[in-house]
Amino acid sequence: MGVVSSPGKIQVLPDDVIGRIAAGEVVERPAAVVKELIENSLDAGSTAITVEIKDGGLGLIRVTDDGEGMSRGDAMLAFQRHATSKLRSDSDLTAVRTMGFRGEALPSIAAVSKVRVLTLAQGASIGTQLWLADGGAGRVEEAAAIPGTSIEVAELFYNTPARRKFLKSTTTEFSHISHAIQQAALAWAQVHFRLLHNGYEVFNLPGVSSLRDRVLQIYRGAFGDGALGIEAERNGLTVRGFIIDPVKARASRTPQDLFVNRRPIKNSTVSHAVSDGYSAFLAKGQHPLFVLFLDLEPSRVDVNVHPTKREVRFADPELIHQVVRSAVRQVLGRVQIASSLAGAVIQEERPTAFESSWSRAPAFAPRQTDGAVDRGVPPVAPELQTSFVQEAGAPYVPGDRPDVVPLGQMSRTYLIVQVGSELAVVDQHTAHERVLFERLWRAWQANTLPSQPLLLPEPLELPVQKALLLQQHLGALERLGLGIEPFGTSSFLIRSLPILLGHTDTVSLVQDLVDDLERWESVSSLEEKVRPVLASLACHGAVRAGRSMALPEIKQLVQDWVAEGRIMTCPHGRRVAFRLSAEEMGRLFDRP
Ligand SMILES: Nc1ncnc2c1ncn2[C@@H]1O[C@H](COP(=O)(O)OP(=O)(O)OP(=O)(O)O)[C@@H](O)[C@H]1O
Ligand SMILES: [Mg+2]
Repeated sequence: MGVVSSPGKIQVLPDDVIGRIAAGEVVERPAAVVKELIENSLDAGSTAITVEIKDGGLGLIRVTDDGEGMSRGDAMLAFQRHATSKLRSDSDLTAVRTMGFRGEALPSIAAVSKVRVLTLAQGASIGTQLWLADGGAGRVEEAAAIPGTSIEVAELFYNTPARRKFLKSTTTEFSHISHAIQQAALAWAQVHFRLLHNGYEVFNLPGVSSLRDRVLQIYRGAFGDGALGIEAERNGLTVRGFIIDPVKARASRTPQDLFVNRRPIKNSTVSHAVSDGYSAFLAKGQHPLFVLFLDLEPSRVDVNVHPTKREVRFADPELIHQVVRSAVRQVLGRVQIASSLAGAVIQEERPTAFESSWSRAPAFAPRQTDGAVDRGVPPVAPELQTSFVQEAGAPYVPGDRPDVVPLGQMSRTYLIVQVGSELAVVDQHTAHERVLFERLWRAWQANTLPSQPLLLPEPLELPVQKALLLQQHLGALERLGLGIEPFGTSSFLIRSLPILLGHTDTVSLVQDLVDDLERWESVSSLEEKVRPVLASLACHGAVRAGRSMALPEIKQLVQDWVAEGRIMTCPHGRRVAFRLSAEEMGRLFDRP
């Protein structure tokens, strides 16, 4: 059987098409261009890098650095495929210390955009200006320049309309760009980074000498005062960075940043090791936050496994896992001891947060008198549990109302009650969360979600991408009873909250809401968008585990939960109660 061929069927593609296909891998969106240009600037030893963007990067991307610059000859070579100053031979690939090594980025960018370069090598007197389009060098001329390099990328994807079509909104593309720059800034704390969008300065991060300062410049909003330093070293592997104090952990997953030899990387071994280290310290639905830097010999990590270098392969993943996990454990162990010692002293003197929330929260005691607040014991008038329902004007029909007899509280978390003839053990937080959620939901549907101004507006600082996201949705949140006012590029004032909520940590509430907003782009129905937001509101408004509750409060909460239909899960899916009927109880005790 011979090989059959039909002559003329297979052809070698023209160079420009090859270039565009290859570019598709490296340059997936405007942020990828920014990442590559910055990495070149960093490899060139720059101490200050300015990124100017127009229209989310589709209008223009300009990266200017004060690095070593290029001679005329180098500048022309730089745009040829596989032209690099960073690798000389195959063996160098196992010892890469620069961000770039493939000689692929600039030609790929030039294949899908119009590029202008202005560069002056340090020590030289005449600079070079160079224009490129369709992957090839165009005009080259001498030009006056200051030492360093400035590269402009215009009309990105002008010749790959399919790629252009897949881009998201300007805001989204811009937020990817700002993320890419922040990642570089975290790994290069001593370098000055500036970002401008359509002429406005979005951030300006002067070089700092400590990693902590840089992490705070970027993630102050996310970590608050809950950043725990981490540092470990074993077998030539060092781990440094910050992780979130578990008591400050939220539903958010940002940041979860990992850098391996200064490259931003996604790696499941490390993520898993961190989660493992946290395991028992986090409640369900909470996630660890971290910014971690792993450094090891370049020969022990393969960086050449992903087109945009977003992944690496470790020679010894078990060691990595062990070191990261135990470093996390160790830090958390220390914190837990410290806080349980502090907690033992404070707990008895302070009115519990539940009591103080009670006095401000109409949520499940809407008509209490001031006298009742003073004693910390709310009245339990039988009509109380329906009062909100009337206010909301929703078509709500309460079912049968069994008697609720409060028996006590266990571990300041579980309410022991008799409901009708059943024994119920009720999780105070999830039950209250469910009650608040049902009320918020009904009020929203009935268009009666009133808001209440805060006595003192709360300031809030967010990382840039989140600030952009929040700004986009301020109107929608306003309709949910949340009055938030922007001031400056990434600061806000929280002015009002839904009245049903009562006392909560407003700032961390809004931070969680921003995480909910991140998912808005992927759902279209309004209800699907609103549901998680109301669930976050309910979660923040609900009494926490660990607060002691008096019998009348217990009774009120359980009555409310029963009135809402005894739903067995909170809006996030956690269990609310464990129930044992009289018959089951009888069977347990061998009663006929
Ligand atoms: N900002 C800059 N300053 C000085 N030299 C630069 C700059 N940008 C690029 N170069 C030079 O151009 C060459 C080609 O850059 P390019 O990004 O295409 O490849 P690379 O960085 O070597 O590898 P990779 O494709 O992995 O990024 C670099 O090796 C470097 O010598
Ligand atoms: Mg490069």
